[in-house]
Amino acid sequence: MGVKIVDTTLRDAHQSLFATRMTTEEILSVAPILDKAGFYALEVWGGATFDACLRFLNEDPWERLRAIRKACPNTKLQMLFRGQNILGYRHYSDDVVDMFCKKSIENGIDIIRVFDALNDLRNLKQAVVSTKKYGGHCQIALSYTTSPVHTVEYYADLAKRIEKELGADSICIKDMAGVLTPQDAKALFTALKKNTKLPLELHSHCTGGICEMTYMAAIEAGCDIIDCSVTPLSNGTGQPSAQAMNVALAGTKYDPKLDKEKMFEAEPLLEKIKTKNLNNGKMTVKSLSVNPNILKYQVPGGMLSNLTSQLKEQNAMDRYDEVLKEIPNVRKDLGYPPLVTPLSQMVGTQAVLNVLSGQRYKMVAKEIKDYCHGRYGQWPAPVDPKILKQIVGDDEIIKCRPADLLEPEFEALKEKYKDIAKCDEDVLSLALFEAVATEFLKKKYAPKVEEQDEVVEFNLYV
Ligand code: CO
Repeated sequence: MGVKIVDTTLRDAHQSLFATRMTTEEILSVAPILDKAGFYALEVWGGATFDACLRFLNEDPWERLRAIRKACPNTKLQMLFRGQNILGYRHYSDDVVDMFCKKSIENGIDIIRVFDALNDLRNLKQAVVSTKKYGGHCQIALSYTTSPVHTVEYYADLAKRIEKELGADSICIKDMAGVLTPQDAKALFTALKKNTKLPLELHSHCTGGICEMTYMAAIEAGCDIIDCSVTPLSNGTGQPSAQAMNVALAGTKYDPKLDKEKMFEAEPLLEKIKTKNLNNGKMTVKSLSVNPNILKYQVPGGMLSNLTSQLKEQNAMDRYDEVLKEIPNVRKDLGYPPLVTPLSQMVGTQAVLNVLSGQRYKMVAKEIKDYCHGRYGQWPAPVDPKILKQIVGDDEIIKCRPADLLEPEFEALKEKYKDIAKCDEDVLSLALFEAVATEFLKKKYAPKVEEQDEVVEFNLYV
């Protein structure tokens, strides 16, 4: 059996390379070809793609999913899911998580890849239970980072618990920043293989310039599935090229046996999308270049661009290097949370506050306060006691699973949005992205006005 390849062209590629702006029409132009190329699955849906549909593209993400499902009858469809946060930024009650899994599967998803920024298995439990309940495949993605607590043993132990305690179907190492090195991948996958029988997958990024070598080392150590994108929407801040990996592994026992002709057919269509985004400035040469500096700071690409826009807004771009150096300090203070959504935004914002206010933790964002109260789950390592005291004072810190404190809320949300929502899918869109979904659905359901012929006046004398 060769290595399996999951195609991320329709999710992570455009998210990493040009701000998630691929339209449904563009997706559908290429999806039927990708469907026949021999991929194990196509990753097509996730938080950013959902948000971008509503916010920037005036599209219904649920309709997009149904259209992709129809266009791709042969290949499994995969989505990325933020545990108890679903696709949003706060914890939702279990019944909302359950309803989201149900509706995702009903509308066409086969594999739900669930991750939690803190790798707190309690935050993943409900998504696993619900995915299995509705007949889906549940993959747990462990957020990869390096720190004194994020050792090979830490991940190997989690893998064992994911198989035994959670009952998930497969495990992915999610290296969102692209910092996993070939030698660490070898040690990591060797240990994972010893600790679990579940299929193992690796998701990484080419930003640092080492990703293909890391993939190869992981494959040789027992990794079963790798995430790639179809060139020309590969590499840079995105995933390695599916065509290139297919060639590199051809003729070996790892041969993924992708259909070269199909990918060749997809290339000009993707080239057209890429050119459009280069011309409109959504894609920059920077996102296509190798940047080994990320290996030093371990900051994901998306976080760097957020940071730049935050500092530009405050007219403080001259403090960029100071903020960049402050990020690892904040991470250390907070017990080394992996820098993935929503922690990446939270740590980044706190680093900006620490630098710009001139006094560390003088100003603290609400989310960081919640984190220090235990409301996001268990910290990987204890928060620095002095800073904890400064932030929470004598408040009690939550030890239980944060969602245990939440009452069921789906019916209340349904009632709240009854004037705008026409189906449960609409309720879920509103629950996750209230402001943008409200605006979108109002437009969507507005009575259609007969389009009037526009009166065009020519001024012949100009
Ligand atoms: Co990614």
